[in-house]
This record gives sequence, C-alpha cells and structure tokens, in this order.
Amino acid sequence: MARRILVTGGAGYIGSHTVLQLLLAGFGVVVVDNLDNSSEVAVERVTAIAGKYGKNLTFHRIDLRDKDALDKLFASTKFDAVVHFAGLKAVGESVQKPLLYYNNNIIGTIALLEAMVRHGCKKLVFSSSATVYGWPKKVPCTEESPLCAMNPYGRTKLMIEDICRDIHRADKDWNIILLRYFNPIGAHPSGNIGEDPRGFPNNLMPFVQQVAVGRRPTLTVFGNDYSTKDGTGVRDYIHVVDLADGHIAALQKLFKASNLGCEVYNLGTGKGTSVLEMVAAFEKTSGKKIPVVKAGRRHGDAEILYASTRKAEKELKWKAKYGIEEMCRDQWNWAKKNPWGYGSPDSTS
Ligand SMILES: NC(=O)c1ccc[n+]([C@@H]2O[C@H](COP(=O)([O-])OP(=O)(O)OC[C@H]3O[C@@H](n4cnc5c(N)ncnc54)[C@H](O)[C@@H]3O)[C@@H](O)[C@H]2O)c1
Ligand SMILES: *[C@@H]1O[C@H](CO)[C@@H](O)[C@H](O)[C@H]1NC(C)=O
Ligand SMILES: *[C@@H]1O[C@H](CO)[C@@H](O)[C@H](O)[C@H]1NC(C)=O
Repeated sequence: MARRILVTGGAGYIGSHTVLQLLLAGFGVVVVDNLDNSSEVAVERVTAIAGKYGKNLTFHRIDLRDKDALDKLFASTKFDAVVHFAGLKAVGESVQKPLLYYNNNIIGTIALLEAMVRHGCKKLVFSSSATVYGWPKKVPCTEESPLCAMNPYGRTKLMIEDICRDIHRADKDWNIILLRYFNPIGAHPSGNIGEDPRGFPNNLMPFVQQVAVGRRPTLTVFGNDYSTKDGTGVRDYIHVVDLADGHIAALQKLFKASNLGCEVYNLGTGKGTSVLEMVAAFEKTSGKKIPVVKAGRRHGDAEILYASTRKAEKELKWKAKYGIEEMCRDQWNWAKKNPWGYGSPDSTS
C-alpha cells in the first residue's frame, strides 16, 4: 500500500515543491493550508506538473489551530506521517508582532501534535531553520553547534524543536526528524511553481527577482562591513528541489528505523556565497542588471552561516545536487514566466 503523507503548509514555497517530489515518488499527499500566505493556484500547478500522479493529491483549506477541522480530517484519513511546514516566517514581522508569531507557530504546532496523538500518528518531519544557530562563532554549523534564537521567529523554531524532543522523551513511540534548512532559493525547473512573496520581500532572491522583472528599481543590501571577502553576508543557498528531496530522504529514514527517536539534520550545500556573489551570478544568468543600494546591517542577521552536511549525507544518504548557476537559472525562469507570482499586478504590493 502506498504511504499517505499529511503536508501542512503545502501550498507555500517549500511545501509546494516538496508535495510535487512526494507525488512523483509515489506517495499519496493531503495538503492542509489556511492560504494565509499562499495561493491555491500553487496546488493546482503542482497537480498539473505531477501528471498521472496529480490525482494522488488532495487539498483542504484548514487553519491548524482549528481543532475540530483537524480532528475531522484525521478521523477520515489515516496518515503514515506528517510533514509540517505551516508557519509564519518573516523575521522582521515577528519582532513587530510577536504574539501573532507565537500564536500561529506554537499553538498551531501543538494543535497538530495533539491531533496526531489522538489519532495514533507519531511520525513527524518538521521545518526548522539554520536561524537556530544564531550568530555562530564557528562555521560550518554542525547539528551539535550551540543554539541561540535572535528573534521571536527563531524562538518559535527553537521552542518547537524542544517540544519535539520532550514529547519523544515522554513517549518513545514518537519518531521525529527536525530539518534545519539553510537558504532555499530557485524554483522547479518547469518555471510553474516558485516563491511568491506578498508585500516587501524579506529574503535576497525574491527581492533580486522583483528588481529583475521591473517591479522594484533597486536591491537593498543590508550590511557591507562584515568580515567577509566583500563585506556582505555569507549564506548557504540551496536549490528548493534539493531541499524538497531532503524531505523524501527524511521520510524514508522515518519509515525504515522504528526507534529513530528525535533526530536533527542540516539541509544545506556546505558552501558559503556572499550577497554580492549571488547578485553577480543572477545578473550573469538573466542578463539583467541589478542596481544595488547599500544599507546598514539588519539587527539579528548573522555574518556567515553555512552548513556541515556530513550528517545528512551519511545518515539520510542525501546530498544537494544543484549549484548556484542552476539556482539562478530556475529562479529566473520562474520570474520570467510569472513576474507577478501567482497573482496579478493589482493583487500584489
Ligand atoms: N524559506 C526559508 O528561507 C525557510 C528557511 C528555514 C525554515 N523555513 C520554514 O519552512 C516552512 C515553510 O516555509 P516557506 O518558505 O515555504 O513559507 P511559506 O510562507 O511559503 O509557506 C508556509 C505556508 O504555511 C501556511 N500557514 C501558515 N500558518 C498556517 C496555519 N496556522 N494553518 C495552516 N496553514 C498555515 C501559509 O499559508 C503558507 O502556505 C516554514 O515553517 C518556515 O519557517 C523556511
Ligand atoms: C498514485 O498514482 C499512481 C499513478 O496513477 C498510482 O500507480 C499509485 O498507486 C497512486 N498512489 C496512491 C497513494 O494513490
Ligand atoms: C510568505 O511567503 C513568501 C514565500 O512565498 C515568503 O517570502 C514570506 O516571508 C512569507 N511571509 C510570512 C509572513 O511568512
């Protein structure tokens, strides 16, 4: 019998790419998303790209904090595991609206975990983030590096990691994989799904992309005096399709090992790239000039952050395949085909 996976936040950027890879790998997928920060169009596009596997996908517009709706879903469908993406993730907004972030991310997760317990599904893959490494004293970050959250968003990630460690400590039936993502960028090579930020983009590549298609005149680069080769921040960019495949590897691990416990894995490439290097790579691929405006450091941004990928390679047998060039190529392909994301010029600001 094919396995059935519940994917929360499956209409979002990483979620939609992961749902596609899951379908292509033969899983049955049920997506739950409140569409707060995404469009059902993403789900329709995934269905179309998946071809004959598209019929294995169903979508429910549900907020995770709606206990009754979750209960109904779990009662009607048996899930072999849950992949939990749903959450808010804008760092700056989390500083302005901490209660919104704690309410959505923490209460949403607890509601999900409680529903899982009630219905006897105790296998989970959770989207954590490299942000839990804070401002690391040593790179690359290994899974044993010290943890330190620098803002409410990061604290929600760290708290959920702790909740997961605690529930496994209390009940060994739980098997949980915490995936710490580095910086996912790019899009599916079809150019039909990708990242579609509403409002002002928080991350580099959506910003670059909006400049390239003429939606914004210039790119603001925060921080130019870091002790890096060109003064700009260094990050570990990973192609979103590689990241999505990391979830399949994690699920396979969960299904193979019955007493895995609660394990954490970095998902990155192990390579650091500066903001200016990234911009240059994108200019080369797209043939578009990206005018840069230099600005001060953003509070709480680390200087250099990249992953040690050894643990994931060894234990998940997973390794990123794509480099910066492919990331830029696919980002640009998506941007060209969908300059306004899933919306229209008047639906986006
Ligand atoms: N993109 C990154 O750079 C990055 C890095 C590290 C970790 N993450 C984590 O990965 C996950 C997915 O990120 P993404 O980039 O795809 O973001 P996204 O905003 O595109 O996707 C998140 C999805 O969750 C949904 N959602 C939010 N709250 C919900 C709720 N209460 N109930 C139901 N659905 C809800 C949103 O509508 C959205 O579709 C998030 O947990 C994020 O924190 C992302
Ligand atoms: C998904 O679709 C494929 C192809 O149509 C089919 O062979 C497979 O059994 C389906 N899987 C599930 C879980 O329904
Ligand atoms: C909404 O999703 C986009 C990606 O599609 C992301 O860039 C942005 O940070 C998200 N916003 C929130 C509040 O999570």
